[in-house]
Order: sequence, then C-alpha cells, then structure tokens
Amino acid sequence: MRDIAVDQLTFLQAKEELTALAAELAYHDERYHREDSPEISDAEYDALKLRNIAIEARFPELIRSDSPSRKVGASPLAGFGQVTHARPMLSLDNAFIDMDVQDFVGSVYRFLGQLPNGSIAFTAEPKIDGLSMSIRYENGILVSAATRGDGTTGENVTANILTINEIPERLPEGVPSVVEVRGEVYMAKSDFLQLNEQMALEGKQTYVNPRNTAAGSLRQLDAKVTATRKLKFFAYSWGEMSGMPADTQHGMIEVFKNWGFPVNPLTARFFTADELIAHYHMIGIERPTLDYDIDGVVYKVDRLDLQTRLGFRSRSPRWAIAHKFPAEQATTILRDIDIQVGRTGALTPVARLEPITVGGVVVTNATLHNEDYIKGLGLKGELLREGRDIRIGDTVIIQRAGDVIPQIVDVLIEKRPSDATAYQFPDHCPVCGSHAVREEGEAVRRCTGGLICSAQAVERIRHFVSRNAFDIEGLGEKQVEFFFNAEDDALSIRTPADIFTLEERQKHSLTKLENIEGFGKTSVNKLYKAINARREIALSRFLYGLGIRHVGEVNAKRLARAYATYSKFEEAILNTIAPLSGDRTDKGNEAWQELTSVEGIGSIVALAIVEFYQEEHNREVLAMLLAQVTPLEEKIETASDSPVIGQTIVFTGSLEKMSRDEAKAMAERFGAKSSGSVSKKTNLVVAGPGAGSKLSKAQELGIKIITEDEWFELIGEK
Ligand code: IVH
Repeated sequence: MRDIAVDQLTFLQAKEELTALAAELAYHDERYHREDSPEISDAEYDALKLRNIAIEARFPELIRSDSPSRKVGASPLAGFGQVTHARPMLSLDNAFIDMDVQDFVGSVYRFLGQLPNGSIAFTAEPKIDGLSMSIRYENGILVSAATRGDGTTGENVTANILTINEIPERLPEGVPSVVEVRGEVYMAKSDFLQLNEQMALEGKQTYVNPRNTAAGSLRQLDAKVTATRKLKFFAYSWGEMSGMPADTQHGMIEVFKNWGFPVNPLTARFFTADELIAHYHMIGIERPTLDYDIDGVVYKVDRLDLQTRLGFRSRSPRWAIAHKFPAEQATTILRDIDIQVGRTGALTPVARLEPITVGGVVVTNATLHNEDYIKGLGLKGELLREGRDIRIGDTVIIQRAGDVIPQIVDVLIEKRPSDATAYQFPDHCPVCGSHAVREEGEAVRRCTGGLICSAQAVERIRHFVSRNAFDIEGLGEKQVEFFFNAEDDALSIRTPADIFTLEERQKHSLTKLENIEGFGKTSVNKLYKAINARREIALSRFLYGLGIRHVGEVNAKRLARAYATYSKFEEAILNTIAPLSGDRTDKGNEAWQELTSVEGIGSIVALAIVEFYQEEHNREVLAMLLAQVTPLEEKIETASDSPVIGQTIVFTGSLEKMSRDEAKAMAERFGAKSSGSVSKKTNLVVAGPGAGSKLSKAQELGIKIITEDEWFELIGEK
C-alpha cells in the first residue's frame, strides 16, 4: 500500500494505513527514545510521519486519537520551519528585446572563449509563473520540500507538497542517494477559474490570479486546505545531487521525466540566438491557449560542464537568461499623487488610480519614480514621452510586468481635462515638514529631517524586520506604525532594540498588548516567538538590517564574508579614515584600503558606511541593539580544499583556454581574489604568452609565476 500515492488511496485503504502507521511510528519512537537503537534512518522516519500527515490531510475524518501527528512533543513537521537550501536558489537575469538575447549568447561565447560559433547548444523552456520549490529525496524518499524564500533559506512546506499528486513521494530504484528536484508549483488557469466560481458561490472573497492562489494554497498551515486545491508541478532544475544522472540540461529534464515528474512539453534545444528567438515567438503565440500562466522563456546553456565554467554572478547564473514577454498595459485615470517618504528620506511619488484590471490583476497604485519622471524628463535630462508631463486628472497608460510595481508609461494628452495644471512637487517633507532637497546630479529629492522624521524612522524599522533582514513575522506595516506611535512605554518601539525588549516591558505593565484590538493572545505569543528566534542572526542579515545607504543584500553579504565577525567589522570601520575629498594623493589609511578592496565596495559605499558609524546616535542605537542580539560569525563557503584560498592572483598575457572573465570568476570560485595589478600583496601570477610589464614586476618582487596549464593543474581542473 505504501506505493500508492496518497491521493490515490481509497477511504478504506487510508484507514488501514493510518492504523498501521500509528503502530509503526510508535514502535520506532520507542526504539529511538527509550532504547536508543533506531532501526530506520531519520529520513525514513520523517517520510513515514509525513505520509501520515498527508493521508490525514486528505481524510481528516480518519484522524485517530492516537495519531502520531497529535503526540505531545512530536516534532512539528507540518509547521513552517525554515529550511536552509543545500544550494542557494537563484534568480535569473532578464532579457526584454531580441537584442538582449543576441547579447546573452555572445557573452557566453566571449566568456568561454575559443568555441566556434554555433557549437554551443541552448535549451529554451517556458518560464512558468508559479512558485519555485526545492524537493529533497534521500534514498529515493521525499523528505522535505521548501519554498525559495530569500534564496538561502525557505519555508518548510513538506506536508503541503505531499498533497500534490503530480509530485512523486518515491523515486525509482537506483537514483542517487541525495536528489533535490527543483521546479515550479502552479495552479492551472481552469482550476483557478473553477475555484473562484466556487468561492463566489459561497459568498467568499475571490482570488486575484493563479499565482497568488497557488502561493496562498501552499502557505496554508493546515495541509487539509492545500489538499483541496489542485496544484501542479513542472520540474526544470535541481539543487544538491549526490551524483549526476546526466551531463546536459535537456538530459536532466529527460531523467526527471523518467522519475515520474511532469516536465514542460514546450522545452526544446537550439544552437543560435535566432532559433531561440523564433521559439520564443512560437511560445508567445501558444501562450493564450496554454492552461497555465507563463511570463517568458528561459534559455540555458545545455552542457552542464559549460554551466560550471560559466558559474554565477552574485544572484544569477551566467549560463541562463529569462526572455520576458512584453508587459501588459491598460488605460485609466490618475486621481491623485501621494508622496511617500522612505527610510533614507527619499520622496517617492505614488499614483493613485481609478482601479483597473491589467493582465488579470486589479491595480490601484503605480509608481511615478521621481520628480523629473512626472515632468517628462529622464535621468540624464533627456525627454521622456516626447516631453509630456503627467497631471492629476490625466488619462494614463499603465503597465504591469510580473510582480513588479506597475508604472505609468504615458499620458493621453487629448483626454486631458482643461483645468489640469502641472504637478508641483513638494519642497518640504509631507511627514515632518523639514526641507526636502535635491542634490546636484541626483534624481531624488530627500527629506533633511533625518532623525526627527518619523516617516524615516518607521521605514527604518520596517526595513529592519523585513524578509531579507531580520525577517520578523507579525511586524507588518500597520503593526510597526502602531508600535512606533504608541505613547505607553510598555508598548513603544522607536528603535530596533525596542523590539527585543517588548516582551520584558510587557511583563511589568498593565497595558497589555493582547487586549489591544488586532492583537490577541495567540498572535502576541507568536510575535514574541518570532522575535526571540532572531536573537542570534547571520552577520549579513544584521548588516543589511541596519539600513546603511548603498549596503543592500549583496554588499552586506560581501562585507560579512570579508570581515567574518561583527566585532572585526565594527573595529575596522571605527578605525577607518577616508581620504580627504579633492586630495588625489590621499589614499586613506590602511583600514580604508582594506574596506575598499572588498568586491563591490567602492568609495561611495565605503563612505556611507563610515559616515553611518560617525553619527553618534547610530552608535547608541547599535549598542542597545547589540545588548539584545548576537550576530553570528559568517561561514565562508568556498571549496575548502582549495589551494589558492585567500590568495590574490594576477592573470596576465594572453590566455588560451579561457577568457579573462572566466579566469577571474574561476579564481573567485576557488576562494581567491583576482587583481589587475601586481603588488607586494600578490601571491601568484598566471602568465600567458606576450606577458610584459606585470610579469617583470612579479619577477622583481619574487612572486610565484605559473603558466595557464599549471594553473589548471594547481586547482585540479582538466
Ligand atoms: S531556472 C539558477 N527554469 O523563474 C536558475 N526558472 O527568475 C534557476 N522559473 O526562481 C531557475 N520557469 O521560480 C528556471 N524553466 C524555468 C523556470 C524558472 C520558471 C522561475 C523560477 C525562478 C525564477 C527566476
């Protein structure tokens, strides 16, 4: 019976199996806990447990009083624990026009060098508009499934995934011991329409689009609800694999198909950009007839060894690109323009629109970017929309692509009301009243209120708790505003540290949070739990959460890797002396040079960090926060047996087996840094034919010099 998929079980079979599972799991619990001699692996145990949950989700009326899922102290498998992906789940770069595709193909050839035109195969696959999912099998048994999350960690949705019948619970004999299949969970358009009809009949709120419905269906803490939604799956990628069953992308898809996964029938393989583009147009024509939403076509280098050589940029692979379908447009009326004040004081104009459906989604707001955009001017002062400005009352064309914020792309001048006047962008902050100024060469106008501007403070806290920073669930926009404006000392949250003292302050207070409308005991306890779970935090998240200008996720990660611990980072920054501006001979002190030698940290970013730490108030806020929170040491994930780890390498002369870019990327992959010039800090020079001054300088300094072939030998490739 174990071989029957959960959704194929009859009522009687399910009943029988739940009885067997209860007995079996009780037996294994006993072995494990009391006798300390487990007979099955953790993975096999989890699989039994998950099967139990999945069957119960399908037949709630069969849940036994002695069900293993009800046991006190049983591990909460069904909950949304966090799963750290064995390999990060990355996103893709986008191509919008044919030329971008030509560029992509060209860049692959350039990076790899030496390969004759037309010799590299690419796959073209529809880009499914659903949710990406990583499904892990150990010894052929499904043991966990996780959403993409921030790419590094996702939510554990195993129980919910087990309710999807298209996803096998077991793989055939002989598969590698660890397999992670990745792909897209989606809802068919027809199932979406049917579900919405049902919801409407029951007088319930209907859903916006299949993607959001699929997301909502998966996010159900109760897998019973997920089980009633018809979710589907396409496999197209993988994470950790203990062995590779194929050496091409199309080969892998074939393997997934043989293992029982649905794969997309419109996937094909080509050799030139023109062929890829033709396939894209063909899929574009098919698009309306498909029963699932797609938002583009993904092109991937077919050979996996070439994929490895091409490697990754910070967030996306060099060997793939998503060719997006054009955005959808609609016309509506601009009712008003609101100004939002961001965390760095930036004033952003937001269009309030007469609600309109664009590509199946109701849009009420759109971004207007900045002051000049409204006037019809681009970033460099060039004319946009032939100089047409945007006025309140105008009929505007809005555009929406995927999940990005809709934008206003044009105005229908002929429909402009006669009394419409040009929009006057405010020169004061609408929240705190401080002057709002625009610096020379900047597109944004900023509030100068800094620390007194409550909008900035609220946005800073919102950023601090956001998904890729501290990721504290239960502190959404409304809650942050509530806590920020709370007068009572036992409720107010003005700085990040206050978040972590809230529970303690509440204990001694009569103003109980749980009695305040919109909270309640369960949600308050959940909130405390979410907060306490972040008292230890990855250094990169910590740094990102501080909201220092120019220190986004990627730079935060780079800084965390470079300094490894918070104390080293802080000490270095406090010791940093930036060069005097305008003095070309001043190179700053050693700490400055170290900081600016971190990849991606140029002088603008470095200066923003130093200035952040020079502000006394920031140091106070940080000290209070550090009394509550411990940033963890950043683990550096590079090939640990790399012989060049931590070294600075210079490639010079002409290289014959790889392009300069590939050499650089390869050095980074092996934990080294490549530099353009030879200095005392250089550890190794890889010299090809025709090397000149760099080679002689290296000889002068007594630095080790090797050939390209010796380089490959050294790192053990080829
Ligand atoms: S490949 C390392 N292939 O698009 C690259 N992604 O923008 C892994 N997606 O997060 C992704 N269809 O959710 C790939 N055929 C396809 C896809 C696909 C949809 C989604 C996926 C990914 C996002 C990237």
